[in-house]
Amino acid sequence: MVWSQLWTPAVTGVLLVSQVHTQQTGNNPDWPRWCGKVYEAGYPNFDPGGQTPQPRPHPCGCPLLHVQFQPRYSLYLSSESQGEFVVNADFSPFHGTIWPPTNSSTQWANRFIFSINSVETDVPLVQATVPVNTTGNRFQFNLSRLGPPRLDPYPVVLYGAPESGQPSWTVIANISYLPDKLNGSVTRTDNLKGGLWVKNAASNNTFAPYLPYGFYASHDNFLRENDTKLIDAYQNLGLTGMVPLASWSEIPEMLSYMDDIDLKYMYNLRYGYKNVSYVTENVLQARDHPGIFAYWTADEPDGWQDPFDLSVQAQSLIHQLDPYHPAVVTLNCQNYYFKEYSSGADIIMSDVYPIGINSTFSKWGTECNVTHGDCGCDNCQGIVQDVSDRLDTLSEYEKWLGLWPKTKFHNPQSFHGQDYWLRDPTVEEEHAMNVLAFNHGMKGIISWLWPSSTVLAEAHGKLAKVVTRSPVKEFLVGGDGVDGPGRVEARVPGTGIEIVDAAVWVDKTRNKALIGVVNGGYADIERRVEVPVVNATTVDKTLWGGVEWRVEGELLVVDRLPALATSFVLVNLRG
Ligand SMILES: *[C@@H]1O[C@H](CO)[C@@H](O)[C@H](O)[C@H]1NC(C)=O
Ligand SMILES: *[C@@H]1O[C@H](CO)[C@@H](O)[C@H](O)[C@H]1NC(C)=O
Ligand SMILES: *[C@@H]1O[C@H](CO)[C@@H](O)[C@H](O)[C@H]1NC(C)=O
Ligand SMILES: *[C@@H]1O[C@H](CO)[C@@H](O)[C@H](O)[C@H]1NC(C)=O
Ligand SMILES: *[C@@H]1O[C@H](CO)[C@@H](O)[C@H](O)[C@H]1NC(C)=O
Ligand SMILES: *[C@@H]1O[C@H](CO)[C@@H](O)[C@H](O)[C@H]1NC(C)=O
Ligand SMILES: *[C@@H]1O[C@H](CO)[C@@H](O)[C@H](O)[C@H]1NC(C)=O
Ligand SMILES: *[C@@H]1O[C@H](CO)[C@@H](O)[C@H](O)[C@H]1NC(C)=O
Ligand SMILES: *[C@@H]1O[C@H](CO)[C@@H](O)[C@H](O)[C@H]1NC(C)=O
Ligand SMILES: *[C@@H]1O[C@H](CO)[C@@H](O)[C@H](O)[C@H]1NC(C)=O
Ligand SMILES: *[C@@H]1O[C@H](CO)[C@@H](O)[C@H](O)[C@H]1NC(C)=O
Repeated sequence: MVWSQLWTPAVTGVLLVSQVHTQQTGNNPDWPRWCGKVYEAGYPNFDPGGQTPQPRPHPCGCPLLHVQFQPRYSLYLSSESQGEFVVNADFSPFHGTIWPPTNSSTQWANRFIFSINSVETDVPLVQATVPVNTTGNRFQFNLSRLGPPRLDPYPVVLYGAPESGQPSWTVIANISYLPDKLNGSVTRTDNLKGGLWVKNAASNNTFAPYLPYGFYASHDNFLRENDTKLIDAYQNLGLTGMVPLASWSEIPEMLSYMDDIDLKYMYNLRYGYKNVSYVTENVLQARDHPGIFAYWTADEPDGWQDPFDLSVQAQSLIHQLDPYHPAVVTLNCQNYYFKEYSSGADIIMSDVYPIGINSTFSKWGTECNVTHGDCGCDNCQGIVQDVSDRLDTLSEYEKWLGLWPKTKFHNPQSFHGQDYWLRDPTVEEEHAMNVLAFNHGMKGIISWLWPSSTVLAEAHGKLAKVVTRSPVKEFLVGGDGVDGPGRVEARVPGTGIEIVDAAVWVDKTRNKALIGVVNGGYADIERRVEVPVVNATTVDKTLWGGVEWRVEGELLVVDRLPALATSFVLVNLRG
């Protein structure tokens, strides 16, 4: 944030507290603020700004063709020969260029014709066409056409046009084609499905789908104990990842032990992400270890109103020192400079802690609303659906901003206290929030905070054992042949109940679908509930939850759905 732009000359200089309190307008950085909003009593209400606006549709009211492309994976290695680009060419009311109407009846009618070239050599990598208003089109190419593998990304450009040649589209991107790395680990994100793929010695140096499920783990009362049995107990619950809240210099034995047992960790740079020497020192220490899968830079920079450029600076330093692992930022706010605060993130984590809050009136003696107050969960209602609503909101901002969607993780609440959160979530609420997160596209779970209560530790471990292993993992992380999560409308016939959330992942190569279902309500639904699943024939297996679903004519059906019930069901599809 550039404070100088927000200061008016009249409020610079020494401010007396009484002046602050009587200030009626403005945006004083010395006021206690969270997500830009004043949260203590006695300060004026003002619009904190930073909201992501829905863009105005183009005045023509006609279809704009929004063309975007990315490499399928965030990086490729010299040990691979084929790369892949994903091309989206969908109609958008907001972004793109007017697609001209045509009366042509040739094979090129309503197709977008394009070439993707290396910027440095102009060598064409892909020359093809896609039907307009389609996304997720994939094109393979020979990686060696880029040039030799190297640490810096290769810039690439897409030129395209309709059959008539006018108008034209130019879009740029980068692709990483790196020398293979045989020590340590390599993590890449899938720009099409969002999931993580990791390789290290434990995976025989082959990329394998990875679903991180674990906790931010405390130094005090855990890592500081320097006890490998505590790490074993954590992993034995079924947890697959950790964000240790300590650095190499503090807990070398614990991190080395996690390397040895392949308990993957996101390395914590939170305490020094603003400090170039700190980031450098720590990345050099961490980068060649087999257990690292990512770096965590900024924790809630939007909540703290950190300067925008710091996480971007940390990310580019990380990429320079270690192009093999992504940088991760945790966001806290619902609508505060999303574009700026997410720009330094390869992966976005989202803190949504809605359970046991007073969503309308805070411990600071203030009302909470979109311009004022801090009730512990920004613009939340204090219900499990706050989780899925937040995740949908972040995806919507990406659409409005015309950004390629980033991989996202959910940070579930496993704590209470600080006078914001009256109680821990129940086991049922915890499961409901996490299945909602998966249904809405999350690719990892990092809960705050370990050690948690034994009850919640076991609750997370139980779900982790199902979702991080076959066959669920392959659906949730996604890969070739798996589509989803697709949203489906669950129905309670004869009522207007819309509280059941459902999503479907389809594996066309095996004719199976995974269905995730959550009753987000605190009451049992004593009626038939139906989830439409195209081509469903029979239930193969209930993988999670006690609800006994059956298939009746392309509907997944149950006669009674308990409060906060969660399910993952594998069904067979007509081949
Ligand atoms: C397409 O054909 C229709 C009917 O022949 C004509 O009215 C229209 O102007 C044509 N549009 C274009 C873009 O050529
Ligand atoms: C583009 O596709 C979307 C989603 O499939 C559809 O709703 C929309 O009508 C299409 N737009 C046009 C102009 O064909
Ligand atoms: C890729 O291109 C290189 C150099 O042009 C060639 O030697 C190699 O055989 C090609 N590989 C494939 C899989 O086509
Ligand atoms: C490509 O990467 C370079 C840094 O290597 C960066 O400056 C540039 O903005 C990136 N371009 C795109 C389109 O992301
Ligand atoms: C790991 O491999 C890289 C080359 O890929 C090398 O530069 C580095 O020194 C190696 N690190 C260790 C600890 O052996
Ligand atoms: C590990 O990879 C090597 C080389 O690709 C292969 O020969 C071997 O069969 C693999 N081992 C396992 C257990 O997958
Ligand atoms: C941690 O434990 C190991 C093995 O028991 C020991 O060698 C090391 O000195 C301990 N480190 C600390 C910081 O206590
Ligand atoms: C920045 O990090 C370095 C290396 O860890 C440390 O020596 C220095 O004190 C830090 N600077 C600040 C301002 O914290
Ligand atoms: C929130 O706090 C206010 C003020 O103490 C109280 O009136 C209100 O009932 C509380 N709401 C909930 C849901 O607890
Ligand atoms: C939010 O709360 C503040 C403080 O009570 C109040 O002045 C303001 O009008 C409220 N804003 C909205 C949008 O309700
Ligand atoms: C359903 O089956 C039909 C016929 O086999 C197939 O074309 C269609 O893609 C299938 N749809 C889904 C969602 O599996």
